[in-house]
Parts: sequence; structure tokens; C-alpha cells
Amino acid sequence: MRKTIIVSNRLPVKIQEQDGAYVLQTSEGGLATGLGSIYREGNNIWIGWPGQFIDEKKQQDKITTQLRQMNLLPVFLTEDEINSYYEGFCNETLWPVFHYMSVYARYVESNWDAYYQVNQKFRDKVLSVAEPGDTIWIHDYQLLLLPGMLRAEMPEISIGFFQHIPFPSFELFRLIPWRAEILEGMLGADLMGFHTFDDTRHFLDAVARLLPAQTSANVVSFNDRAIVVETFPMGIDEKKYATLGMDPEVKSNMAQLQEAFKTEKMILSIDRLDYTKGILQRLEAFEQLLELYPQYVAQVVLYMIVVPSRDTVPQYKQLREDIDQKVGHINARFRTLNWHPVQYFYRSFPVEMLSALYNFADICLVTPMRDGMNLVSKEYVASRINNDGVLILSEMAGASKELVDAIIVNPNNVGAMREAIVEAIKMPLEEQQRRMKLMRQLVAKFNINHWVELFMTRLKEVNAMQQKMLAR
Ligand code: G6P
Repeated sequence: MRKTIIVSNRLPVKIQEQDGAYVLQTSEGGLATGLGSIYREGNNIWIGWPGQFIDEKKQQDKITTQLRQMNLLPVFLTEDEINSYYEGFCNETLWPVFHYMSVYARYVESNWDAYYQVNQKFRDKVLSVAEPGDTIWIHDYQLLLLPGMLRAEMPEISIGFFQHIPFPSFELFRLIPWRAEILEGMLGADLMGFHTFDDTRHFLDAVARLLPAQTSANVVSFNDRAIVVETFPMGIDEKKYATLGMDPEVKSNMAQLQEAFKTEKMILSIDRLDYTKGILQRLEAFEQLLELYPQYVAQVVLYMIVVPSRDTVPQYKQLREDIDQKVGHINARFRTLNWHPVQYFYRSFPVEMLSALYNFADICLVTPMRDGMNLVSKEYVASRINNDGVLILSEMAGASKELVDAIIVNPNNVGAMREAIVEAIKMPLEEQQRRMKLMRQLVAKFNINHWVELFMTRLKEVNAMQQKMLAR
């Protein structure tokens, strides 16, 4: 029987150490939910890193057995690989350059070597289960070389690739010393997907300028193969967020929020710790709001969740300290006896709390400096079943191409963000409802299942087209 193999750097489970034993926790993330309908079926499988350094062979075998029962196949990384592939090349080279923050990028030959070797490690794991006729769907920037490596071994196999982060303009991408190798790796796929039209265009541009390849519209001819490059904006599990408000635990969390914030308007901000998210600029805009509009002192609160992430990478460590300092500064400057302007949490929260916050917050402030898509903005919209609430969204987030009824801001323009908050606070209910309704319709229609189906259908069509061309 033909099967589908999903490959991503992380598996959709987290391994946690508890009293010397390892416990598996399934991920709540959008991708895990969306692909759940695929990898759990029949003999389909998801290959990836379980996110923890596990040294002992005995432990690895035990975890593998557990994961296999869930249609998951682990790739274990050594400590060196975590340092040089994951933290090094993925998060200190590709991540900053692809997010237009090349000043943070380091170009270290040994990290590139590790990236190459870990992609080979993933290749070998895929080859250990792949059979002719299977379909392979590879995800994200950690595995850019994998499509090419698999193509070399299995020329006929169907490969889709989706990149979840932006693809930068050529002037940024060309900075990477291994740029041609990266593109060649990606072009091992049959279908390449990006979130936005601009990412797609930038990729095609880079290919045309760096490789001996022909590009015509959205098709690349390279090494006697045709590769289709298209835009697939990712959605969320909209129903889950639209109905979570009915959950008793969510309701009880909302009642507590109501009790704690009786009169204040709540501005919500939720991100992973990352310099691409514009957290400091957002805090600056909030500080300016309190400074220039003293009538809002004790009337608004910024509820800010930062989820710990990559905190062994130096820039992330620094950012965490800068946020601590800025929050401390704002709270010290403006707090009153019973009111803290910024309610800051550096930890992750269960979905029942996130849903309560999405339901409760009057305003959601999503202002990344650059973001592939940004699913928080869509989760907020999906949660607003009464159609009220205001979304302020950065024009640098992929989601801004779809959620055009948000208040769209340039995150580099702190003054404009401050004024957007004022506009949001003052926005009449009818106007909130008009905008939110339109956004909710969009989020409901182009949900995660739609995205998965669209990509898989398109991959089949592309393969059929290639078969026809070969037959000629
Ligand atoms: C982004 C990337 C994902 C990544 C996630 C969390 O959304 O597109 O590939 O898994 O961040 O980052 P982490 O480094 O913890 O996997």
C-alpha cells in the first residue's frame, strides 16, 4: 500500500523528563492538528526529532517503540548536532537571514557541514521506510537540502516541500555562502509551497539569478525536471477556537480574568521569544500610549505572554533580558497601587488559558518585524464568535495579506502602532463587528484542513503532469 511520509525537524510530540523517565506529550500546534488526518492513517508516518537530547541507546530504543505505535519515527540528534545544526545553522544563519535580520547571522563553515550531515541523517531515516509510489511531504527551513538528497536516491518518488518562514528577497538570500547548494536542495521537490505570493516570487527570482535553471511563470526547469512553485497560505483549526469558549475550563478562566480586570481594556500579545516578533517595539508603543494619553493610565492593560524558545542562542538570551528590563521600566514608571500596566508572563500556557484570553481581550496586538504567516492573529479572530474585538496586525506578517480588515501597521513605526492602539480602543462596536465578521469568514473557509487538502491535491496534479511529460 502506498503511504505518505511527513518529515519536519520536530515531531508533533514533546518528550519531557519526569523523575528520570521520559513522558510523551502530543503537540497542540496547528501543523500537528492539520497533519493529524494524514499521519495517523494506515501505514503513513511522520519523521522528526523528538526535541530532546537522549544519550542512551536503551532509552532511544524505548522511545522509538513508543513513538512507532503513534505512527512517528524519531531522528535522534547528538549534543554536537543540536549545537551546530539546530542552534547554529538553522537558528543563527537561516532564521535571521530569511527574516531580513542579517546583522544577527553568522556564517560558520562547520555549522553548514553539520546542517548537511543532519539533512543526510534525515534522508537515511526516510530511505529506511520509503518505497516506490510513496509521497513525501517535507516541512521548513531546517530541511532545505533533504528534497535534493532524496531525489538523488529515488528519482521517481513524489516530494512536496513547504516553507513555513518567509523566503527573503534576493539581496538578502545572496548573503548566504551556500546559497546555490540550498536552492539545488530545495529543487529536489516536485511542488514547493510558500505562505505568500512575495515569498514565492523571491524564491523564483533567486533560482533564476543563481542557478542554470529556466523559470517560466511559476514553473522551474532544472536538471530535466519541472518543479512547480506556488502560494498556499496556511490556516488554523478554526472550529477548535470557535468552540473552545464553551469549554467549562475556558469559561472558568474567563470568569477569573473578568474578576481580575473589572474595568480595564485588555490588549493581548502572545509570541514565542524571538527578535523577529517586535516585542520591544510593541512595548515602546505601549509606553508612548501611557505617556501621551494619560487618560488611559489604569484604564488599559497589556497582557503579554512570551513563550520560552531557543534560549541557548545568544541573541535570544539578550532579548529576554531586554524585555525584562523594558517591562520593569514601564511598570515602575506608570504603576499605581492596584494596577500594573504590563502583565508579563515568560512561560507557555495551556490552550484553555489561551482561548480564555482570546475570548476576553478587547484588542490583540500582533506586530512582528517579519513573520512567515502568524497563526496567533488567526486564532484570535477565530475565537471572536461575537464578532467584537480589534486585531492590530503588522504588514510584515504573512497573515496581513489575508486579514486585510485588521488595523494594519508598520512595526518600525512606533508612533503608528501607538495611534493604532488609540484607534482600537475608540473603535465603535459596529465597526469592530463589520471587520471581525469578514475576517472570521476568511479564517473559517481557509482553515488548516483546506490547506492540507489543497497542497496534497496539487502535489498529485503536479505528479500526473510530470508523468504525462515523461510519456511524451
Ligand atoms: C517556527 C518555525 C518552525 C519551528 C517553530 C518553533 O514556527 O517555522 O519550524 O518549529 O518556529 O521553533 P523551534 O526552534 O522551537 O522548533
